[in-house]
Amino acid sequence: MANQTTATHGVMEGGGSYNLHARIPAGGGNLALPLLEEAVRNIPLERGDQPVVIADYGSSQGKNSLSPMRTAIKALRLRIGPDRPIFVVHIDQAANDFNTLFDVLRSDPERYSVDDPNIFSSAIGRSFYEGVFPREHVHLGWSSYAAVWLSRIPMLIPGHFVVLASTGHVREAFARQAADDWRFFLSLRASELRLGGRLVVVLPGLNDEGVTGFEPLFSEANEALAEMVTEGAISAEERAGMVLGAYPRRRNELLAPFSTDGQFCSLICRGDTSLFCQAFSTVA
Ligand SMILES: C[S@@+](CC[C@H](N)C(=O)[O-])C[C@H]1O[C@@H](n2cnc3c(N)ncnc32)[C@H](O)[C@@H]1O
Repeated sequence: MANQTTATHGVMEGGGSYNLHARIPAGGGNLALPLLEEAVRNIPLERGDQPVVIADYGSSQGKNSLSPMRTAIKALRLRIGPDRPIFVVHIDQAANDFNTLFDVLRSDPERYSVDDPNIFSSAIGRSFYEGVFPREHVHLGWSSYAAVWLSRIPMLIPGHFVVLASTGHVREAFARQAADDWRFFLSLRASELRLGGRLVVVLPGLNDEGVTGFEPLFSEANEALAEMVTEGAISAEERAGMVLGAYPRRRNELLAPFSTDGQFCSLICRGDTSLFCQAFSTVA
């Protein structure tokens, strides 16, 4: 069992719990709103009344999507007027708490469709490590605090449950998985974006010293898990099988796919070079 790997990881705690406890990602996402506005200003929009498509990759239960979607819609309306339809599509894993998402979209006082009858929301329960849309379908993509989650957990982490505490071949296995996943995520989005479309990605990462700031918290949590084993609340096997399937990347890991000539799968990195926010567009 010790090195058995899992194919997937879980989703955020349901029953609306994520929405109640996600202020850190909300704050991180807000840092990227100027990038999102700039992206909207620069998307090529064909004439006519065809819907404009916004994709929200890794929406969870929706509360933290309201502000970015409102920002994008407001900027779009300045360009296309009030009548042209806008599709907003929220994507998350099939086991996500979509009931809460739809409740938020219908009744949250800050919902982005308030006073705008030409917004049409929907959701897709599918991994963003698969194709989610047909080719060249999406005008604007947004993904916040989601692509930090790996498509699979490559191995267990002896003595801990977060990759930050690992070294040697364990750390390398996660780094390889993260590099593959990042390239795959970008290549899928590149195919789904329309020509000149833009993708804004927000990720929690490591600073240039390799620190996230969460290390003391994870250390405390790890000690608490060890105590739970001692008290018999969980078994040693259960503890050994616990792994957080997230890999916070360094700036150079995020930019690696673009290192040769600044492009990757027809995406150009338009990065604000800050650690947390990157914007990409397809070659127009
Ligand atoms: C920390 S939440 C972020 C939610 C929201 N975007 C925010 O900024 O607060 C990460 C979300 O990404 C989703 N996620 C993780 N891996 C995914 C995958 N492979 N495909 C789709 N969604 C995924 C999780 O299910 C979760 O809902």
